[in-house]
Amino acid sequence: MDDSDAVIRVETGGGAYDVTVGTGLIDQPECFPADVLGAEVFVVTNETVGPLYADRLTAALGSRRITLMTLPDGEEHKTLESFARIIDAMVAARMHRDATVIGLGGGVIGDMAGFAAASYQRGVAVVQVPTTLLAQVDAAVGGKTGVNHPGGKNLIGAFHQPRAVIADVAVLDTLPEREYRAGLAEVVKYGAGLDADFFSWIEANAQALLQRDAEALRVAVCRSCEAKAAVVQQDEREAGRRALLNLGHTFGHAIEVATGYGSWLHGEAVAAGMVLAGRLSGRLGLLPADDAARLENLLSVFGLPVAPPPISADRLLDLMRMDKKVLSGRLRLILMKGLGDSFVEADCPEGEVRAVLHAAAAG
Ligand SMILES: NC(=O)c1ccc[n+]([C@@H]2O[C@H](COP(=O)([O-])OP(=O)(O)OC[C@H]3O[C@@H](n4cnc5c(N)ncnc54)[C@H](O)[C@@H]3O)[C@@H](O)[C@H]2O)c1
Repeated sequence: MDDSDAVIRVETGGGAYDVTVGTGLIDQPECFPADVLGAEVFVVTNETVGPLYADRLTAALGSRRITLMTLPDGEEHKTLESFARIIDAMVAARMHRDATVIGLGGGVIGDMAGFAAASYQRGVAVVQVPTTLLAQVDAAVGGKTGVNHPGGKNLIGAFHQPRAVIADVAVLDTLPEREYRAGLAEVVKYGAGLDADFFSWIEANAQALLQRDAEALRVAVCRSCEAKAAVVQQDEREAGRRALLNLGHTFGHAIEVATGYGSWLHGEAVAAGMVLAGRLSGRLGLLPADDAARLENLLSVFGLPVAPPPISADRLLDLMRMDKKVLSGRLRLILMKGLGDSFVEADCPEGEVRAVLHAAAAG
């Protein structure tokens, strides 16, 4: 670690831990001290990330007893079957109660590694080493773990806070461009929803971010993690304020389902979802037109979609009603009063939502 590395402390009822953000961290033994990582380590990765980074990470882990498990790549493998394979491999490797699981990969690997750690022997430690921008700014922090079920995404899981998060922005160099830009949507989400200064900083540094400038990325990941940590600390289990992290997500979720998972990346759907949330907020007289335009413009600069795909308003509305975040049949959405100033509207007028979706569909 050097002076330019930043450490963000996350304090929750489920555990306190550091998120370290910097460059070249996966090569540095001092990022994995004995009080964070015991003598037995079980590394979960996938066939894309493993060949790129597993050797470097295990070299930094030194003389510990290390078992490496490589899963196939893809959201379609975020299943109970993969979870069972991880547990089987941990049993075969005779991992003890004081073993530590490391999730080396994007959100898919992090969620599965975290869930296996939450369950194995009723819970062992997990250290997250996120390798996508989305995982560094979102999935690795906050303790949500789990797998998908044919009946729904992330339907099975547990809250299990990591022992540490090591976010090495240098590994983002190899991330495919589309995945990278989808991660930028989540960065914009923190600015648009929670932190107006950060939103302005993203606007000013958009080109540096597009070029994956290490210093710009370090700042973007730090500020995103700080924003997430602040919310998670107040509301670990999403009883209230944590919902603000879902700006654009109910619209986005409907887009993902309507297009069939995988054709739109999550971040792309969230980008279009944030624009729709902005337009709805404007329509309700809450968000000034200038702010809505800035949000749309920034997402366009990042090459992200700012309109939903051609799907009828009725279909999207039906899917929005089925979202997990909908309570007692009411449309509960995150709206904005200004950039950086979002709130939970527990009962959005359905006619207004429909009007926004109709207008977007009409182009
Ligand atoms: N737990 C949470 O709070 C939380 C929050 C948001 C999203 N998620 C979950 O995260 C998942 C999505 O995560 P994601 O967007 O990171 O997708 P992902 O894990 O599928 O990674 C995207 C792709 O990038 C590849 N990849 C990862 N790191 C790379 C690198 N450094 N270089 C080259 N390729 C690399 C992966 O192998 C994969 O093909 C979803 O399952 C979602 O439910 C969880």
